[in-house]
Amino acid sequence: MDETKPRYGVDAYLDWVAKEGLPVAEDFGIDLFAVETAPWPRCGDGVKAAAVHLKGRGDFANMFVLDIPPGGATAPQRHLYEEVVYVLEGTGSTQIESGDGSKRSFEWGPRSLFAIPLNARYRHFNGSGRARTLLVSTTDLPLVMNTFHDERFVFDTDFEFVSRAGKSAYFAGEGDLITVRPGNHMWETNFVPDLASIELKSWGDRGAGGTNIMFVLADGTMHAHISEMPVGTYKKGHRHGPGFHVMCVTGHGYSLLWYPGEKDFRRIDWRHGVVFPPADQQFHQHFNASREPARYLATGVGGLRYPLTQQNRRSLVGAKPGEKPAVSLGVKEGGDQIEYEDQDKRIHALWLAEMKKNGVVPRMEKYFPDGGAAATEAAE
Ligand SMILES: [Fe+2]
Repeated sequence: MDETKPRYGVDAYLDWVAKEGLPVAEDFGIDLFAVETAPWPRCGDGVKAAAVHLKGRGDFANMFVLDIPPGGATAPQRHLYEEVVYVLEGTGSTQIESGDGSKRSFEWGPRSLFAIPLNARYRHFNGSGRARTLLVSTTDLPLVMNTFHDERFVFDTDFEFVSRAGKSAYFAGEGDLITVRPGNHMWETNFVPDLASIELKSWGDRGAGGTNIMFVLADGTMHAHISEMPVGTYKKGHRHGPGFHVMCVTGHGYSLLWYPGEKDFRRIDWRHGVVFPPADQQFHQHFNASREPARYLATGVGGLRYPLTQQNRRSLVGAKPGEKPAVSLGVKEGGDQIEYEDQDKRIHALWLAEMKKNGVVPRMEKYFPDGGAAATEAAE
Protein backbone atom coordinates (compact mmCIF):
# COMPACT_ATOMS: atom_id res chain seq x y z
CA MET A 1 0.00 0.00 0.00
CA ASP A 2 1.30 3.47 -0.89
CA GLU A 3 1.00 5.42 2.39
CA THR A 4 1.37 8.76 0.62
CA LYS A 5 -1.87 8.35 -1.32
CA PRO A 6 -5.23 9.18 0.25
CA ARG A 7 -7.27 6.05 0.89
CA TYR A 8 -10.75 6.30 -0.58
CA GLY A 9 -13.07 4.31 -2.78
CA VAL A 10 -11.72 1.12 -1.22
CA ASP A 11 -13.29 -2.26 -1.99
CA ALA A 12 -11.91 -4.32 0.90
CA TYR A 13 -13.26 -7.53 -0.61
CA LEU A 14 -11.55 -7.08 -4.01
CA ASP A 15 -8.32 -6.04 -2.26
CA TRP A 16 -8.48 -9.24 -0.25
CA VAL A 17 -9.08 -11.41 -3.35
CA ALA A 18 -5.98 -9.88 -4.97
CA LYS A 19 -3.92 -10.41 -1.83
CA GLU A 20 -4.94 -14.07 -1.64
CA GLY A 21 -3.69 -14.53 -5.19
CA LEU A 22 -7.01 -15.90 -6.43
CA PRO A 23 -7.70 -15.83 -10.17
CA VAL A 24 -11.01 -14.12 -10.92
CA ALA A 25 -13.53 -15.27 -13.52
CA GLU A 26 -15.91 -12.47 -14.42
CA ASP A 27 -18.76 -12.66 -16.93
CA PHE A 28 -22.53 -12.98 -17.34
CA GLY A 29 -22.60 -16.72 -17.90
CA ILE A 30 -19.70 -18.83 -16.65
CA ASP A 31 -18.91 -22.53 -17.12
CA LEU A 32 -17.60 -23.40 -13.67
CA PHE A 33 -15.83 -26.50 -15.01
CA ALA A 34 -13.72 -24.24 -17.22
CA VAL A 35 -12.74 -21.66 -14.58
CA GLU A 36 -8.98 -21.32 -14.19
CA THR A 37 -7.87 -22.04 -10.62
CA ALA A 38 -4.58 -21.47 -8.78
CA PRO A 39 -3.16 -22.81 -5.50
CA TRP A 40 -4.86 -21.18 -2.49
CA PRO A 41 -2.44 -21.51 0.42
CA ARG A 42 -5.17 -20.55 2.91
CA CYS A 43 -6.94 -23.85 2.12
CA GLY A 44 -3.87 -26.06 2.39
CA ASP A 45 -1.54 -28.10 0.19
CA GLY A 46 -2.68 -28.90 -3.29
CA VAL A 47 -6.03 -27.12 -3.03
CA LYS A 48 -6.72 -24.77 -5.92
CA ALA A 49 -9.37 -22.11 -6.13
CA ALA A 50 -10.76 -19.14 -8.00
CA ALA A 51 -13.18 -16.34 -7.26
CA VAL A 52 -16.21 -16.09 -9.56
CA HIS A 53 -17.78 -12.68 -10.02
CA LEU A 54 -20.92 -12.66 -12.10
CA LYS A 55 -21.50 -9.36 -13.83
CA GLY A 56 -24.44 -7.59 -12.26
CA ARG A 57 -24.19 -9.67 -9.08
CA GLY A 58 -24.67 -6.68 -6.79
CA ASP A 59 -22.72 -5.86 -3.66
CA PHE A 60 -23.23 -8.80 -1.33
CA ALA A 61 -22.40 -12.13 -2.95
CA ASN A 62 -19.53 -13.94 -4.65
CA MET A 63 -18.55 -17.48 -5.52
CA PHE A 64 -15.50 -19.60 -4.90
CA VAL A 65 -14.59 -22.62 -6.99
CA LEU A 66 -12.58 -25.11 -4.94
CA ASP A 67 -10.60 -27.90 -6.56
CA ILE A 68 -9.46 -30.52 -4.01
CA PRO A 69 -6.89 -32.99 -5.38
CA PRO A 70 -7.29 -36.79 -5.15
CA GLY A 71 -6.85 -37.88 -1.53
CA GLY A 72 -6.63 -34.24 -0.46
CA ALA A 73 -8.40 -32.16 2.14
CA THR A 74 -8.78 -28.51 2.98
CA ALA A 75 -6.99 -27.07 5.98
CA PRO A 76 -9.39 -26.26 8.87
CA GLN A 77 -11.25 -23.01 8.25
CA ARG A 78 -13.70 -20.84 10.10
CA HIS A 79 -15.06 -17.47 9.07
CA LEU A 80 -17.74 -14.89 9.70
CA TYR A 81 -19.23 -15.16 6.26
CA GLU A 82 -21.89 -17.66 5.27
CA GLU A 83 -21.28 -20.26 2.64
CA VAL A 84 -23.63 -22.47 0.62
CA VAL A 85 -21.75 -25.22 -1.18
CA TYR A 86 -22.82 -27.09 -4.31
CA VAL A 87 -20.91 -30.16 -5.47
CA LEU A 88 -20.08 -30.00 -9.16
CA GLU A 89 -17.92 -33.10 -9.41
CA GLY A 90 -16.52 -35.85 -7.20
CA THR A 91 -17.33 -37.39 -3.85
CA GLY A 92 -16.11 -36.62 -0.37
CA SER A 93 -17.12 -35.48 3.07
CA THR A 94 -17.20 -32.40 5.22
CA GLN A 95 -16.42 -32.38 8.91
CA ILE A 96 -17.93 -29.68 11.09
CA GLU A 97 -16.46 -29.07 14.54
CA SER A 98 -18.56 -27.45 17.24
CA GLY A 99 -17.27 -25.22 20.00
CA ASP A 100 -17.37 -28.11 22.49
CA GLY A 101 -15.03 -30.11 20.25
CA SER A 102 -17.70 -32.50 18.99
CA LYS A 103 -17.40 -33.36 15.32
CA ARG A 104 -20.04 -34.18 12.74
CA SER A 105 -19.36 -35.45 9.25
CA PHE A 106 -21.51 -35.99 6.22
CA GLU A 107 -20.74 -37.48 2.84
CA TRP A 108 -21.57 -35.75 -0.40
CA GLY A 109 -21.48 -36.42 -4.12
CA PRO A 110 -22.34 -34.66 -7.36
CA ARG A 111 -25.34 -32.33 -6.98
CA SER A 112 -25.24 -32.28 -3.18
CA LEU A 113 -25.93 -28.95 -1.48
CA PHE A 114 -24.92 -27.95 2.03
CA ALA A 115 -24.19 -24.96 4.21
CA ILE A 116 -21.41 -24.31 6.68
CA PRO A 117 -22.98 -22.97 9.89
CA LEU A 118 -21.70 -19.46 10.51
CA ASN A 119 -18.18 -19.45 11.95
CA ALA A 120 -18.15 -23.24 12.52
CA ARG A 121 -14.75 -24.85 12.04
CA TYR A 122 -14.80 -27.20 9.05
CA ARG A 123 -12.79 -29.27 6.62
CA HIS A 124 -13.64 -30.75 3.23
CA PHE A 125 -12.16 -34.16 2.33
CA ASN A 126 -11.91 -35.58 -1.15
CA GLY A 127 -13.17 -39.16 -0.83
CA SER A 128 -11.35 -40.39 -3.91
CA GLY A 129 -7.70 -41.25 -4.30
CA ARG A 130 -7.93 -40.90 -8.05
CA ALA A 131 -10.28 -38.05 -8.99
CA ARG A 132 -10.47 -34.42 -7.96
CA THR A 133 -13.54 -32.88 -6.38
CA LEU A 134 -14.88 -29.58 -7.61
CA LEU A 135 -17.03 -27.53 -5.26
CA VAL A 136 -18.62 -24.15 -5.85
CA SER A 137 -19.74 -22.03 -2.94
CA THR A 138 -21.85 -18.90 -2.88
CA THR A 139 -20.92 -16.62 0.00
CA ASP A 140 -21.66 -13.22 1.49
CA LEU A 141 -17.97 -12.41 1.94
CA PRO A 142 -18.16 -9.18 -0.14
CA LEU A 143 -20.76 -7.87 2.32
CA VAL A 144 -18.82 -9.04 5.38
CA MET A 145 -15.36 -7.96 4.22
CA ASN A 146 -16.55 -4.54 3.11
CA THR A 147 -18.35 -4.07 6.41
CA PHE A 148 -15.45 -4.96 8.73
CA HIS A 149 -12.45 -4.65 6.37
CA ASP A 150 -10.33 -6.61 8.80
CA GLU A 151 -9.28 -10.07 7.68
CA ARG A 152 -8.32 -11.19 11.18
CA PHE A 153 -11.78 -10.43 12.51
CA VAL A 154 -13.43 -12.30 9.61
CA PHE A 155 -11.20 -15.40 9.87
CA ASP A 156 -9.97 -15.45 13.49
CA THR A 157 -13.02 -14.79 15.64
CA ASP A 158 -13.90 -17.61 18.03
CA PHE A 159 -17.52 -16.68 18.76
CA GLU A 160 -19.86 -19.68 18.64
CA PHE A 161 -23.18 -19.16 16.90
CA VAL A 162 -24.79 -21.99 18.85
CA SER A 163 -28.25 -21.60 17.30
CA ARG A 164 -26.90 -21.93 13.75
CA ALA A 165 -25.82 -25.57 13.96
CA GLY A 166 -29.38 -26.90 13.92
CA LYS A 167 -30.47 -30.46 14.66
CA SER A 168 -27.96 -33.30 14.25
CA ALA A 169 -30.34 -34.83 11.73
CA TYR A 170 -29.81 -31.75 9.51
CA PHE A 171 -26.27 -32.97 8.81
CA ALA A 172 -27.59 -36.44 7.99
CA GLY A 173 -29.66 -35.18 5.09
CA GLU A 174 -32.92 -35.00 7.01
CA GLY A 175 -34.93 -31.81 7.33
CA ASP A 176 -38.21 -30.20 8.24
CA LEU A 177 -40.79 -29.12 5.68
CA ILE A 178 -42.20 -25.71 6.57
CA THR A 179 -45.43 -25.13 4.67
CA VAL A 180 -46.10 -21.48 3.84
CA ARG A 181 -47.79 -21.03 0.45
CA PRO A 182 -47.14 -22.38 -3.08
CA GLY A 183 -43.74 -21.08 -4.18
CA ASN A 184 -42.72 -20.38 -0.59
CA HIS A 185 -42.58 -23.83 1.01
CA MET A 186 -39.31 -24.27 2.83
CA TRP A 187 -37.10 -27.23 3.56
CA GLU A 188 -34.97 -26.55 6.63
CA THR A 189 -31.76 -28.54 6.84
CA ASN A 190 -27.98 -28.19 6.57
CA PHE A 191 -27.39 -30.78 3.87
CA VAL A 192 -29.27 -31.97 0.79
CA PRO A 193 -27.62 -35.18 -0.49
CA ASP A 194 -29.00 -34.92 -4.04
CA LEU A 195 -30.70 -31.88 -5.52
CA ALA A 196 -31.69 -33.95 -8.54
CA SER A 197 -34.01 -36.17 -6.49
CA ILE A 198 -35.33 -34.00 -3.64
CA GLU A 199 -39.13 -33.74 -3.76
CA LEU A 200 -40.41 -30.35 -4.94
CA LYS A 201 -43.77 -28.65 -4.42
CA SER A 202 -46.13 -27.17 -6.99
CA TRP A 203 -45.79 -23.45 -7.76
CA GLY A 204 -48.83 -22.70 -9.92
CA ASP A 205 -48.24 -18.94 -10.16
CA ARG A 206 -44.93 -19.29 -12.03
CA GLY A 207 -46.69 -21.35 -14.70
CA ALA A 208 -46.56 -24.55 -16.76
CA GLY A 209 -46.44 -27.21 -14.05
CA GLY A 210 -43.38 -25.71 -12.38
CA THR A 211 -42.34 -26.93 -8.93
CA ASN A 212 -39.87 -25.61 -6.41
CA ILE A 213 -38.67 -25.66 -2.83
CA MET A 214 -36.99 -22.89 -0.84
CA PHE A 215 -34.19 -23.85 1.53
CA VAL A 216 -33.32 -22.63 4.98
CA LEU A 217 -29.75 -23.83 5.44
CA ALA A 218 -27.99 -23.72 8.82
CA ASP A 219 -30.47 -21.03 9.87
CA GLY A 220 -28.59 -18.67 7.61
CA THR A 221 -29.28 -15.52 5.65
CA MET A 222 -28.06 -17.05 2.40
CA HIS A 223 -30.68 -17.80 -0.19
CA ALA A 224 -31.05 -21.16 -1.90
CA HIS A 225 -33.95 -22.60 -3.83
CA ILE A 226 -34.46 -25.18 -6.51
CA SER A 227 -37.02 -25.09 -9.32
CA GLU A 228 -38.03 -27.62 -11.92
CA MET A 229 -39.58 -27.18 -15.36
CA PRO A 230 -41.29 -30.26 -16.85
CA VAL A 231 -40.30 -31.45 -20.35
CA GLY A 232 -41.68 -29.18 -23.08
CA THR A 233 -42.31 -26.17 -20.84
CA TYR A 234 -40.89 -22.85 -19.77
CA LYS A 235 -41.50 -20.48 -16.90
CA LYS A 236 -42.84 -16.96 -16.84
CA GLY A 237 -40.42 -14.05 -17.01
CA HIS A 238 -39.82 -12.05 -13.85
CA ARG A 239 -37.35 -9.73 -12.17
CA HIS A 240 -35.96 -8.98 -8.72
CA GLY A 241 -32.89 -7.60 -7.00
CA PRO A 242 -29.27 -8.61 -7.70
CA GLY A 243 -27.06 -11.32 -6.28
CA PHE A 244 -28.86 -14.50 -7.34
CA HIS A 245 -26.62 -17.13 -8.91
CA VAL A 246 -28.56 -19.55 -11.11
CA MET A 247 -27.04 -22.97 -11.78
CA CYS A 248 -28.44 -25.83 -13.82
CA VAL A 249 -28.77 -29.11 -11.91
CA THR A 250 -30.52 -31.45 -14.38
CA GLY A 251 -31.42 -31.23 -18.05
CA HIS A 252 -30.35 -28.36 -20.22
CA GLY A 253 -31.95 -25.23 -21.57
CA TYR A 254 -31.50 -21.53 -21.92
CA SER A 255 -32.52 -18.28 -20.32
CA LEU A 256 -33.30 -14.90 -21.82
CA LEU A 257 -32.34 -11.77 -19.91
CA TRP A 258 -33.26 -8.20 -20.73
CA TYR A 259 -33.71 -4.82 -19.11
CA PRO A 260 -37.06 -3.03 -19.49
CA GLY A 261 -37.07 -1.20 -22.83
CA GLU A 262 -34.23 -3.22 -24.30
CA LYS A 263 -34.82 -4.36 -27.86
CA ASP A 264 -32.84 -7.57 -27.77
CA PHE A 265 -32.47 -10.39 -25.29
CA ARG A 266 -29.24 -11.70 -23.88
CA ARG A 267 -29.35 -15.47 -24.23
CA ILE A 268 -27.47 -17.86 -21.94
CA ASP A 269 -27.47 -21.59 -22.68
CA TRP A 270 -27.05 -23.75 -19.63
CA ARG A 271 -26.27 -27.27 -18.48
CA HIS A 272 -24.73 -28.66 -15.28
CA GLY A 273 -21.83 -26.38 -14.31
CA VAL A 274 -23.06 -23.16 -15.90
CA VAL A 275 -23.91 -20.22 -13.62
CA PHE A 276 -25.45 -16.91 -14.61
CA PRO A 277 -26.90 -13.86 -12.87
CA PRO A 278 -30.13 -12.16 -13.36
CA ALA A 279 -28.76 -8.67 -12.64
CA ASP A 280 -30.59 -6.01 -10.64
CA GLN A 281 -34.18 -5.67 -11.96
CA GLN A 282 -33.20 -7.44 -15.16
CA PHE A 283 -36.09 -9.48 -16.52
CA HIS A 284 -35.23 -13.11 -17.03
CA GLN A 285 -37.04 -16.19 -18.22
CA HIS A 286 -35.96 -19.84 -18.07
CA PHE A 287 -36.69 -22.45 -20.77
CA ASN A 288 -36.34 -26.21 -20.63
CA ALA A 289 -34.93 -27.34 -23.99
CA SER A 290 -34.17 -30.94 -23.01
CA ARG A 291 -35.94 -34.27 -23.00
CA GLU A 292 -35.91 -34.45 -19.22
CA PRO A 293 -37.17 -32.16 -16.49
CA ALA A 294 -34.77 -29.25 -16.05
CA ARG A 295 -33.88 -28.25 -12.52
CA TYR A 296 -31.92 -25.24 -11.50
CA LEU A 297 -30.53 -24.02 -8.21
CA ALA A 298 -30.49 -20.34 -7.29
CA THR A 299 -28.25 -19.08 -4.50
CA GLY A 300 -27.76 -15.59 -3.17
CA VAL A 301 -27.88 -13.39 -0.11
CA GLY A 302 -31.24 -12.98 1.60
CA GLY A 303 -33.69 -15.87 1.91
CA LEU A 304 -37.26 -16.41 2.94
CA ARG A 305 -36.59 -16.58 6.67
CA TYR A 306 -34.12 -13.69 6.68
CA PRO A 307 -34.71 -11.58 3.55
CA LEU A 308 -32.07 -9.03 4.71
CA THR A 309 -33.24 -6.26 2.37
CA GLN A 310 -36.61 -4.64 1.78
CA GLN A 311 -36.20 -5.46 -1.90
CA ASN A 312 -35.89 -9.18 -1.12
CA ARG A 313 -38.81 -8.96 1.30
CA ARG A 314 -41.01 -7.46 -1.41
CA SER A 315 -39.86 -10.02 -4.00
CA LEU A 316 -39.87 -13.19 -1.92
CA VAL A 317 -42.24 -12.69 0.99
CA GLY A 318 -44.51 -9.77 0.13
CA ALA A 319 -43.97 -6.13 1.07
CA LYS A 320 -46.73 -6.21 3.68
CA PRO A 321 -48.43 -9.03 5.61
CA GLY A 322 -50.97 -10.73 3.36
CA GLU A 323 -49.43 -9.36 0.18
CA LYS A 324 -48.21 -11.73 -2.52
CA PRO A 325 -44.48 -11.91 -3.23
CA ALA A 326 -43.78 -9.58 -6.16
CA VAL A 327 -42.18 -12.41 -8.15
CA SER A 328 -45.55 -14.23 -8.11
CA LEU A 329 -47.61 -11.20 -9.10
CA GLY A 330 -48.15 -9.92 -12.64
CA VAL A 331 -46.59 -6.63 -13.72
CA LYS A 332 -50.10 -5.30 -14.45
CA GLU A 333 -51.03 -5.91 -10.82
CA GLY A 334 -47.96 -4.06 -9.57
CA GLY A 335 -45.75 -7.14 -9.32
CA ASP A 336 -42.63 -8.29 -11.15
CA GLN A 337 -43.84 -11.25 -13.20
CA ILE A 338 -44.74 -11.19 -16.90
CA GLU A 339 -47.79 -13.33 -17.63
CA TYR A 340 -47.57 -15.58 -20.70
CA GLU A 341 -50.16 -13.54 -22.59
CA ASP A 342 -48.19 -10.35 -22.02
CA GLN A 343 -44.77 -11.58 -23.07
CA ASP A 344 -42.88 -10.42 -26.16
CA LYS A 345 -44.12 -12.44 -29.14
CA ARG A 346 -40.60 -13.44 -30.16
CA ILE A 347 -40.16 -15.43 -26.96
CA HIS A 348 -42.63 -18.20 -27.75
CA ALA A 349 -41.55 -18.37 -31.40
CA LEU A 350 -37.91 -18.83 -30.41
CA TRP A 351 -38.85 -21.54 -27.96
CA LEU A 352 -40.98 -23.42 -30.49
CA ALA A 353 -38.01 -23.40 -32.85
CA GLU A 354 -35.82 -24.83 -30.05
CA MET A 355 -38.39 -27.57 -29.40
CA LYS A 356 -38.40 -28.49 -33.06
CA LYS A 357 -34.61 -28.49 -33.27
CA ASN A 358 -34.34 -30.75 -30.21
CA GLY A 359 -37.24 -33.03 -31.19
CA VAL A 360 -39.20 -32.23 -28.01
CA VAL A 361 -42.99 -31.98 -28.02
CA PRO A 362 -44.15 -28.57 -26.69
CA ARG A 363 -46.46 -28.80 -23.68
CA MET A 364 -47.59 -25.20 -23.47
CA GLU A 365 -50.95 -25.60 -25.23
CA LYS A 366 -52.84 -24.70 -22.05
CA TYR A 367 -51.32 -21.22 -22.25
CA PHE A 368 -51.15 -20.99 -26.04
CA PRO A 369 -54.32 -22.77 -27.23
CA ASP A 370 -53.53 -22.12 -30.91
CA GLY A 371 -50.25 -23.96 -30.53
CA GLY A 372 -48.41 -20.67 -30.59
CA ALA A 373 -49.36 -19.88 -34.19
CA ALA A 374 -50.37 -16.33 -33.33
CA ALA A 375 -47.19 -15.73 -31.40
CA THR A 376 -45.07 -17.13 -34.22
CA GLU A 377 -46.87 -15.11 -36.88
CA ALA A 378 -46.58 -11.92 -34.92
CA ALA A 379 -42.86 -12.45 -34.55
CA GLU A 380 -42.24 -12.95 -38.27
FE1 LIG B 1 -35.37 -15.04 -10.80
